[in-house]
Order: sequence, then structure tokens, then C-alpha cells
Amino acid sequence: MGADLAKLDFTLDASDIPLHSAEILEAEARRTLLAECCALLEQRGTVLVAHYYVDADIQDLAIETGGTVADSLEMARFGRDHPARTLLVSGVRFMGESAKILSPEKRVIMPRLDADCSLDLGCPPSAFEAFIKQHPDRTVVVYANTSVKVKALSDWVVTSSVALDIVAHLAASGEKILWAPDKHLGDWIARETDADMLLWNAACIVHDEFKGRALDDLRRVHPNAGVLVHPESPRSVIAQADVVGSTSQIIAAAKSLPHQTFIVATDRGIFHKLRRECPGKTFIEAPTAGHGATCRSCAHCPWMAMNELRSLKQALLDMDSFEIHVDPELGCRAMRPLTRMLEFGARG
Ligand code: 13P
Ligand code: SF4
Repeated sequence: MGADLAKLDFTLDASDIPLHSAEILEAEARRTLLAECCALLEQRGTVLVAHYYVDADIQDLAIETGGTVADSLEMARFGRDHPARTLLVSGVRFMGESAKILSPEKRVIMPRLDADCSLDLGCPPSAFEAFIKQHPDRTVVVYANTSVKVKALSDWVVTSSVALDIVAHLAASGEKILWAPDKHLGDWIARETDADMLLWNAACIVHDEFKGRALDDLRRVHPNAGVLVHPESPRSVIAQADVVGSTSQIIAAAKSLPHQTFIVATDRGIFHKLRRECPGKTFIEAPTAGHGATCRSCAHCPWMAMNELRSLKQALLDMDSFEIHVDPELGCRAMRPLTRMLEFGARG
């Protein structure tokens, strides 16, 4: 797990500048913090599991120290399968909770325990439980971006990379679905699979901002650009996509498609990985507001942005204060639908 400090390349690439935390640290201070975090990870037997939307330095640190940068499905799988006794999850709270549910014997710490998600906030467990009780004939499928309590109420947990396949599989077996919480993702899956789906009404505050008409205008400026869209986006944006997929599916499409330029509708944190994986290609942010607005592309999750190098170091120094705790009984109930998803994904 240890990394050779001399081999670490933490040089600042100009194209990375907007991808760092809101509070940009001086290059020298960042280098020092990175070296400190690197040493602490090794000393504390901890592996760093990061999402594509977090600070670019944190993504690089994860790779350089033997951790991972991944979508939410792969983060869960990596954390479960890695031998480290402590996982440092850099992302939002549901990601740390999923890691803890799947590995109750491990210690899971996060740089910020208050890093929320609008989908999780938009699906309060008591209201959701009442909704389920009104529809006892439906199979309950929830997105991973939910609380432990909501997962514990469900039959299946899915992430965007497997949601379509799992719902198609359930629909083929004649099951009617109760879906929560993302209305756009649910709407897309229902249209793609023809499944009978009852949708909860919540949205991601980041993807909900992408605008179909402004995207159409932008495509006229870049007629040869491919369009890559995360399915948490509105229907009018999804309708213009060459590929709709999870963060890792977006990266895979950028690598495999022949286009030299892509318009990308997801959090801008992903541009770091896109540029690393496809050095010769150009990536343009999809517009988040129409004509006349000042913010034309402010697609960055405020909770992902809380993941800063300083809080990462703090969490490594004071693990007790940054540890994720999950009620064991609830965790046990939530583990079932989460494990089902991982097993389904592993079928290949
Ligand atoms: P992915 O599973 O595609 O990484 O998505 C997680 C997320 O929170 C997207 O907003
Ligand atoms: Fe939640 Fe949206 Fe942030 Fe993803 S980008 S963590 S769905 S608020």
C-alpha cells in the first residue's frame, strides 16, 4: 500500500486549476499536505477510496498510494475487497456509509461527515416507509445515494452503472417497481426498459441544472462533439446524448468513441480523469443555465467540494472524530440489498 514519495508527481497542471477545492492552496502548501497525507495513509494502514468528483489532488493521491478513484459502485466493491483495516472514503456520506455497511468490521473515516447529497436529503426514511406501505405489491429499488435507513427498507440498491440492467432484469420477471429517489434517473430507466415504475420525486441539485435548450445551442457551435450525459440529468439533456451512463461509463465512452471533442453533462470534477485518460481530446462542460444567466457552467457538487486536503489530513490524524458509524441492526438489513447489487454486477 505504501508509495514511493520520490515517484509521486504532484505538479500543478494548468488545466487542473478549476478542479481543486474552492479554497485554492498555494502549490507549495499543497505539496506539503500531499506528502503528509501520503505518509499518514501508510503509517495508519489506511487506503484512500475517492470519487471522480473530488479535488484533483485527492484523486491523484488515491492512485499514487494504492487506493482507487471510481464511481460509487466500484468504490463500494473496492472498499469491501481491500485488505486494509481502515478505509478513508473521499466523497459524500452515503459512500462512506455503504463502505461501512459492506465491511462492518473495518473502520471507515471520511474527511467530512457532513458531506450530504440532495437525493439522500430528498428521501426522508419515515415518508418513504409510508410510501412503501401504500404499494405493497411493488419491488422497492433505491439508488445508492440514500441513507442507511432507506437502504434497509429496500429490496434492491442500485447505482447508475447497474440500475438499467437490474430494473430490466426485474421487469422481465414481471415485477412492478417502486423507485427512489432520483426522478430523472427513474424516468430514463422506465423509458429504456418499459418497466412499470412508480417514481419518488427528488433530484440531484447539480445535474438538475443542465439545460436542454442551451445544450442544443452549444452543439451547434461544436457540431462534431460527442455528448456524454449522466442519467441524473433532465430528460431534455438525456435526449441529446451519444452515451448516457455513470461516471465510469462516461470515462470509458470518452476513451472508446472516435470524437475528438466531447460535451459532458456531469460534475466538473470528472474532467481531471477525462483529461488524464484522453490527453489529446477536448472536453467542454454542458451548460447549466440558459441565455442571459451569469453562471453558464457551475456544475460542481457543493458536498463533494468539502473534500479538501486539509480535512483529509485531519481525518487521518484524529480518526475517532471522523469515523462513520452505522447502527449494526440497520446495517445488517441494508447489507442485503447492497450485496445483491454487487453480486448482480459481478455476473459479468
Ligand atoms: P456514479 O455512481 O455515476 O459515480 O454517480 C454518483 C453520483 O453521486 C453522481 O452524482
Ligand atoms: Fe448527490 Fe448530486 Fe452531489 Fe452526486 S452530484 S453527490 S447526486 S448532490
